[in-house]
Amino acid sequence: MTSQPTTSTLAVDVVDGMERISGAYPGYRRAHARGVCFDATFTPSGDAAGLTTAAHLQHAQVPATVRFSNSNGSPHTLDGARAGRGMAVKFHLPDGTATDLVAVNLPVFLASTPENFLNLLAALEKDPITGTTDPARLAAYIQHNPEAAAGFQAVATMPIPVSYGTVRYWAIHAFEWTSAAGQSRFVRYRWEPDTGPLDLSEVDGAAQEPEYLTGELVRRLVDGPVGFTLRVQLAEPGDPTDDATKAWPADREEIVAGRLEITAPSADQERWAGEIFDPTRVTDGIALSADPILAFRHDAYAVSYDRRSHNA
Ligand code: HEM
Repeated sequence: MTSQPTTSTLAVDVVDGMERISGAYPGYRRAHARGVCFDATFTPSGDAAGLTTAAHLQHAQVPATVRFSNSNGSPHTLDGARAGRGMAVKFHLPDGTATDLVAVNLPVFLASTPENFLNLLAALEKDPITGTTDPARLAAYIQHNPEAAAGFQAVATMPIPVSYGTVRYWAIHAFEWTSAAGQSRFVRYRWEPDTGPLDLSEVDGAAQEPEYLTGELVRRLVDGPVGFTLRVQLAEPGDPTDDATKAWPADREEIVAGRLEITAPSADQERWAGEIFDPTRVTDGIALSADPILAFRHDAYAVSYDRRSHNA
């Protein structure tokens, strides 16, 4: 499936709200502004082939492009602090199309609907007089939206990573896989770093170069590829598939869908920075769940793309 840029008033309002919090930096994404792209290969294990017809989850290796990022809308935030980190993967399929898997270092999200997310942004806006965020407004948001509490707990304990290559990343939303026999199953994806999660203390994080994560991964690749395993959690009937704030029970069956090896920085950084990594860009054998945040991300990313590609 190819994603066509679309806009909605709500998406414009949300991206405007994001700009009020982080600022607008011409030519940059309105979230995950600073990033760096790498060449990779994905080798499916074959274990997903009976559950989905998706081309990259059968038996043959496919090339991929991976963009690692710092979640802030400002490209100038420090890497050595607790913050969101993104891992966006574009799998290049044999028929010339692509499918994207966009993940962060959080297992669940902070809002269950786009409208709630807009309310969250309003709660995070800085007071024009004091210039700071009012913690009482954030507390009120969580009180009115108790489903967001798990996500905020995860935010509070976000790691300061040794490397982009030592972080665990979740794609959060449910997706629906369909097999060649026409049977469907809801799934959730997670990338597990080969090293296991490796973190820095706050003191060690503060001592790093401001943007150490980019150079660290480039240097790490000199010693060989950096690997991640794609683990997939399978839903049982009754598990929520339309709510990004709710995790499934930890004992749900998981399969290993494949292994990603990051090999080198992409030669053309500008070309890949100019792309959209869109979580709704799925392919045959994978469908979107009814999660309203997932569908909305397509619209919000299109608004951001439109602004940055016009150098706004
Ligand atoms: C209402 C919810 C959300 C909104 C409004 C939102 C908004 C955005 C926007 C505007 C961008 C920049 C897009 C571009 O210019 O290409 C972005 C990028 C990104 N978002 Fe979200 N996002 C949301 C939820 C999520 C969730 C749930 C995840 C994780 C599963 C996520 C992970 C990312 C990542 C990793 C990127 C960087 C992608 C890249 O490297 O190109 N976002 N987001």
